[in-house]
Amino acid sequence: MGKAKAEQTADVLTIFGISGDLAKKMTFRALYRLEAAGKLDCPIVGVAIDDWDTEQLRRHAHDSIAATVSDPDEDVFDRLAARLSYVQGDYADAETFKRVGEAIGDAKRPVFYLEIPPSLFATVVHGLGDAGLTENAHVVIEKPFGHDLASARALNAELCEILDETQILRIDHYLGKEPVMDITYLRFANSVLEPVWNRQHVSHVQMSIAEDFGVDDRGRFYDAVGAMRDVVQNHALQVLALVGMGPPTGNHDDSVRDKKLEFFKATRTADPKRYVRGQYRGFLDVPDVAPDSTTETFAAVELAVDNWRWSGVPFFIRTGKCMPAKSSEVTVVFKRPPPLGLGVDRRPDPNKITVRIEPTPGARMGLFAKKAGEEAFEPADLEVLFEKVPGEEPEPYERLLGDAIAGRHHLFTRQDTVEETWRIVQPLLDEPGPVHQYEPGTWGPSAAEKLTRGICHWHEPWLPS
Ligand code: BG6
Repeated sequence: MGKAKAEQTADVLTIFGISGDLAKKMTFRALYRLEAAGKLDCPIVGVAIDDWDTEQLRRHAHDSIAATVSDPDEDVFDRLAARLSYVQGDYADAETFKRVGEAIGDAKRPVFYLEIPPSLFATVVHGLGDAGLTENAHVVIEKPFGHDLASARALNAELCEILDETQILRIDHYLGKEPVMDITYLRFANSVLEPVWNRQHVSHVQMSIAEDFGVDDRGRFYDAVGAMRDVVQNHALQVLALVGMGPPTGNHDDSVRDKKLEFFKATRTADPKRYVRGQYRGFLDVPDVAPDSTTETFAAVELAVDNWRWSGVPFFIRTGKCMPAKSSEVTVVFKRPPPLGLGVDRRPDPNKITVRIEPTPGARMGLFAKKAGEEAFEPADLEVLFEKVPGEEPEPYERLLGDAIAGRHHLFTRQDTVEETWRIVQPLLDEPGPVHQYEPGTWGPSAAEKLTRGICHWHEPWLPS
């Protein structure tokens, strides 16, 4: 599954939207890191509407890398810069695609990366198709893929007039995170876990993605999207699927994606009564946010999974901006043990396994042991940090772009999965309910506490000491 095959490796990478924000903040850094790791071996064509030439693109790349990479190596940059060329053009103009065709020459396996507004995805794909550039091509599409189930289907139908499913690589950058991949390894490289990973032993699961900053300069984007579409429908559900899916069978690009699909199919369509939305005080003052916006910057939801493994086990998701900490983690909480006997009155809390995605990726198993010299118990957690040398593992965009170039597709999301995730959250979009205000720096509105009442409390994040 993980190996690149020469016959699938791209012979040109073309990036639409090369002058945009994502390229500036993420893509050039990712390309620089790929170049430094010796993983780039093809020309790179940048396309945008701006009236630039190749030299300007190279200067822009240099500035972007200087701003995002500490102490960049000029030799690495020079090698990267030599790959770059620029095509100026309007995406609605057939001439642009003619020029793109000239720039990529006789490339046989192009990868086109669309980091452009979603409303332009179909225009560009049709432009590429009309110019005869899509045979053997792969097209990488940024999230969000649609803004609900109907629009995701409509977008896919438009793309599939030109491409087939295997040519479309939908990005969810969370799937390129090393600690998210660690979840699968932790689960299936340890045979001790699988026998207890089910409704007989697990009481509930909590996934939390908290950010300690607001919407800042992304008001226009965020006001139209909100936390449910921005984070829950994609990143949070993808992580839950890795926690909840059955063991992968086979060793191919779809062995994990098939199991995630089964998990999503078993997940009940969400109940608006088990959904709490919040908005931090101050959100309405963010530039480009409507003064009467009811967009949520916090979402908490309970999901149910109707299969033999998970029936009756609640899955909770909580995400928000302006929370007290930046933290992303998922915790599987086991059932509480019965009283110990041994002359100890108190029952231990349940065991837990937490995978921390951010900050400082790692895993922790919450156990208890005898308190030295006393007839009592105390926490005796087992912890492991995943990063051997911080900063050395591939970063999400580096990994995903590298995979797209190398013809490895297992970390991109398939349309069937995208549709299932929209199906799960659709009632929450249709009937969002009220939005509760919360103070920045808190864990969201108090209504969220009611969601877990009688089952559990929201966990304090596990932060590095
Ligand atoms: C993005 C969202 O997809 O994910 C952002 O649009 C969010 O709003 C981000 O902040 C979180 O991912 P990361 O990797 O930046 O923590």
